[in-house]
Amino acid sequence: MAEEEGGSVLGEVLASPLNLLLVALVSFLAYKLLTGRQREYEPPAEPSPELPRLRRDFTPRELRQFDGSGPDGRLLVAVNGKVFDVTRGKRFYGPGGPYAAFAGRDASRGLATFSVVGGKEDEYDDLSDLDKMEMDSVREWEESFQDKYEYVGKLLRPGEQPTVYPEEESSQ
Ligand code: HEM
Repeated sequence: MAEEEGGSVLGEVLASPLNLLLVALVSFLAYKLLTGRQREYEPPAEPSPELPRLRRDFTPRELRQFDGSGPDGRLLVAVNGKVFDVTRGKRFYGPGGPYAAFAGRDASRGLATFSVVGGKEDEYDDLSDLDKMEMDSVREWEESFQDKYEYVGKLLRPGEQPTVYPEEESSQ
């Protein structure tokens, strides 16, 4: 009796095309979930290059040379007056990457206005014309860069003198 019931339930599931479709869908989702989990544990395709830590301030013009085209491929991006070493984010900011226009530049204005174009060429951008929402966005981006990347130094305003950082820090 129980066997018969069991048999008929299976029979019903397999007999209905809708049920078959659901079984297929659930199996597909389970497969995706499992293979997706496995992928998380794969090592990154490209290990981040190990460069000595930089500790210095930059004028916008000085920053320009760190767009990844230099011999060591170092990538720097400034956000809200702070310069970050984004070399480990090469797939985003490196030559040919989706955000390459930010490399070696102040990305604040572009990030705040959803525009993936380079900021002002060699001049300091004081961002004074951005509205409150845009400045909030700049600060949020600054925080996320702070969390993910190494802080290098300040982006210097016109006439501002670079900080003299302790020797042991700058030579590391
Ligand atoms: C169609 C529009 C867009 C799509 C689909 C998109 C998608 C993505 C994706 C998938 C990532 C990678 C996230 C990760 O793996 O951590 C990313 C990162 C990023 N996106 Fe976009 N994005 C778009 C537009 C923009 C715009 C307009 C901006 C700014 C102007 C922007 C700025 C960034 C930045 C700076 C990163 C890298 C953050 C990091 O260094 O970790 N994106 N985006």
